[in-house]
Amino acid sequence: IKKIGVLTSGGDAPGMNCAVRAVVRTCLSHDIEVFGIYDGFAGLHAGKIEQLDRHSVSDVINRGGTFLGSARFPEFKEESIRKEAIKQLEKVGIEALIVIGGDGSYMGALKLSEMGYPCIGLPGTIDNDIAGTDFTIGFMTCLNTIVDAVDRLRDTSSSHNRISIVEMMGRYCGDLTLWAAIAGGSEYVIVPEKEFDEEKLIKQIQLGEEKGKKHAIVAITEHITDVNALAKRIQERTKRETRATILGHIQRGGSPMAFDRILASRMGSYAVDILMAGKSARCVGIKSGEMVDHDIVECLTEMKRPFRQDLYNLSDVLY
Ligand code: F6P
Repeated sequence: IKKIGVLTSGGDAPGMNCAVRAVVRTCLSHDIEVFGIYDGFAGLHAGKIEQLDRHSVSDVINRGGTFLGSARFPEFKEESIRKEAIKQLEKVGIEALIVIGGDGSYMGALKLSEMGYPCIGLPGTIDNDIAGTDFTIGFMTCLNTIVDAVDRLRDTSSSHNRISIVEMMGRYCGDLTLWAAIAGGSEYVIVPEKEFDEEKLIKQIQLGEEKGKKHAIVAITEHITDVNALAKRIQERTKRETRATILGHIQRGGSPMAFDRILASRMGSYAVDILMAGKSARCVGIKSGEMVDHDIVECLTEMKRPFRQDLYNLSDVLY
């Protein structure tokens, strides 16, 4: 293999730059030319392709976001659009593509692979919602950012004896919420994997007050309910001041922490290794500390991310 392309797609995640850097430097160490595709699949379709060298990835290891840019591009579901994208790659002579992103990006990689174009997927998303890997690139950094925000909310919530509801990202995966609840000492955890029982939550808050809890933090994943309306209902029922905070896109930014830098560096380099070994339509993961790769079709269809019931139980014990 002589020419490899790399792109980042979907929501950006801290550590994506480290993954691109690892792809570039691993390629160069094997005398493979490497090309950056700007703005995800949209940029691929538009032919935004540039050759990268060592210096293209200098000083990016500590930068959040993705210097390649990213985009959501639902049009890529259309075969005609993908055919045009493959033409763009062929124009430059790029023989294989490494796609760094979430499951939407994996779907793009899978579709290209099905059309005979070799692709490898790397899990780059804060959500930690991808099967076949214990951790996605960006999850740990985002988690740290959330815990820092929850610590701050704890200060003010305890000063005012208030209930704080904190809405966290994660799309339809509760990992960020669950892990942040343990690390941030939240009293109540509401995740999409468990049915939300508002009545039970209110009773628990009242019970907590009877036990002498002066304030409370409720960690909740986005898309479950309108947290501002929930705060009003809790305030009415408990007669305790309640505030909702939506952490929003702040969660996605910031310099990647060491864990994500190392994970992304390993994954980026591993992706090049498996392409050189002739593999295609694979996605990379980390399992018990080791790099692994799976069939991307299986990953998207059959493999399920296990829910961390152990952590959920732990959050109950530590309440
Ligand atoms: O997938 C990453 C993520 O940040 C999700 O947690 C969130 O639901 C979504 O992206 C937000 O997307 P956008 O940045 O397009 O609003």
